[in-house]
Amino acid sequence: MHAPTPEFIPLAGALGAEVRGLFLGDALDDATLAALRAGLAEHQVLVFRGQAITPEQQRAFAARFGVLQPHPAYPTPPGVPEVSILEHTAEKPSLIEAWHTDMTFMERPPLGSILRGCVLPARGGDTLWASQYAAYEALSAPMRAFLDGLQAEHDFSYGFKESLALPGGRERLAAAVAANPPRVHPVVRTHPESGRKALFVNPLFTTRILGLTAAESAALLAFLYAHAVADERTFRLTWAPDTVAFWDNRCTLHKPVNDHGLQHRLMQRVVIEGDRPR
Ligand SMILES: [Fe+2]
Repeated sequence: MHAPTPEFIPLAGALGAEVRGLFLGDALDDATLAALRAGLAEHQVLVFRGQAITPEQQRAFAARFGVLQPHPAYPTPPGVPEVSILEHTAEKPSLIEAWHTDMTFMERPPLGSILRGCVLPARGGDTLWASQYAAYEALSAPMRAFLDGLQAEHDFSYGFKESLALPGGRERLAAAVAANPPRVHPVVRTHPESGRKALFVNPLFTTRILGLTAAESAALLAFLYAHAVADERTFRLTWAPDTVAFWDNRCTLHKPVNDHGLQHRLMQRVVIEGDRPR
């Protein structure tokens, strides 16, 4: 079956593009796949509207891009363990408010994530992304040179500290904590496909920059976090049911906007394994 060549329509200055002309439940040919890979590395966040796909179809689409990576902490639909259900209700509001890159506590953090809107609040619940190519490229040459040689520690326990503090949280997450000791990654990574450099620290999982004093590390990370998400480096998506966003986790930060109060929001996510940052 021959799928049409996708069209990319940029949605903001630094990142984000809507992709038209594809239904993700179809079998995609190799040329279309190559166009999507290149489009992802360039636009960093791809948005597909009107994608009424099943969890199995979401899994099959994602698997064309690499090995899928189940999450250690989230529930899944029956029979599709690669799909994580991210659900928030009045009883179970979202605990993650911080800008982050997914699962940087892993030795090989995801290449990307594919998130589908299933149940959306009447208003609110947007997602923000920030280009870390743009963040790196906006730094001065001396600062880029300083950061290029540094490494930082990323820790699952640090990112899930609110969940761990809930009653029974430490017991529920004990296996995930044991399986995910702190990891070290470069502060600046080079995207394996585009060859562009990107900042690679985030306030959810990064605990410290190695080799600096605690005060130096805290001050530098605070500067980088503010710099990384300046307005002109961001893109904001308003979801609708069956909107799919596919973001490149190697060169972006993202953040849920928790302004939907107690309204129900249900998303399904698949994560694609990436390489070791370098
Ligand atoms: Fe995330």
